Amino acid sequence: MKTLIAGVLLVLSTGLLATSAAFAAGPKADLEQVKIDLHDQAGLQRGAKYYINYCMGCHSVKFSRYNRVALDLGLTEEQVAENFIFTRAKGEKTKIGDLMTNGMSAEDSERWFGVTPPDLSLVGRSRGGDWIYSFLKAFYVDPARPLGVNNTVFANAGMPHVLWELQGWQEMATKDDGEGGTEKTLTLAQPGSASPEEYDQIITDITNFLVYVGEPARLHRTTIGWWVLLFLSIFAVLAYLLKKEYWKDVH
Ligand code: HEC
Repeated sequence: MKTLIAGVLLVLSTGLLATSAAFAAGPKADLEQVKIDLHDQAGLQRGAKYYINYCMGCHSVKFSRYNRVALDLGLTEEQVAENFIFTRAKGEKTKIGDLMTNGMSAEDSERWFGVTPPDLSLVGRSRGGDWIYSFLKAFYVDPARPLGVNNTVFANAGMPHVLWELQGWQEMATKDDGEGGTEKTLTLAQPGSASPEEYDQIITDITNFLVYVGEPARLHRTTIGWWVLLFLSIFAVLAYLLKKEYWKDVH
């Protein structure tokens, strides 16, 4: 019994250690926090729409299928086929059961951006929501860069500011922070068609969608967890009663 308890404690403490190490290596303090809500279905639908319109041209999400997204986001397959699918493969329109790839070849993109835009299926897990959200908010005008923009979260990123029409253009202002360093702030030099609050909502929706895509099973996992716990507690009672019944002649 003692060894069993010691074993359980060991497993638990290793788990805790691993989790704290993951947090330690996680997001840096200067990232803005985003509120991820995977149960906000309307938000996820908007996020998917923005993603398809503004990002899919360069970034595939090739671990997802259109019909899975339709199912998870509460959309009909017709709605998805009509509003989300713009690609063709061998002359035929991409099918609802196909993977969410795009038509950009690695050589072309390398030539245009100097680097191939990565597939973003797992970016919600590798970078995390706060990073994606802060990155989409941190583009600023920088004439020294080939694309005319830079990014405070991802310095010298090879990605253009694709949402400039919505956000507008930010400029970097530097000032002395009084401690020998410089304080950098971004100011909106030229507003876009969305207000800053609307823009924050748009990039929250896109981030929410990318976090969902990174682990679609998460939508259902937590619900299943409760059913498993319920089953185990009922089963424990039955097992106890059975044990009592078996041992009643011995004791
Ligand atoms: C015109 C092509 C293009 C479009 C459109 C585009 N991106 Fe990018 N994106 C890139 C390129 C190129 C990179 C790689 C940058 C680098 O490594 O320097 C990149 C990198 C990224 C990264 C960082 C990935 C990583 O882990 O390094 C994220 C996140 C990202 N893009 C999100 C988006 C989102 C969200 C949208 C839509 C709002 C979008 N991108 C639209 C070209 C594009």
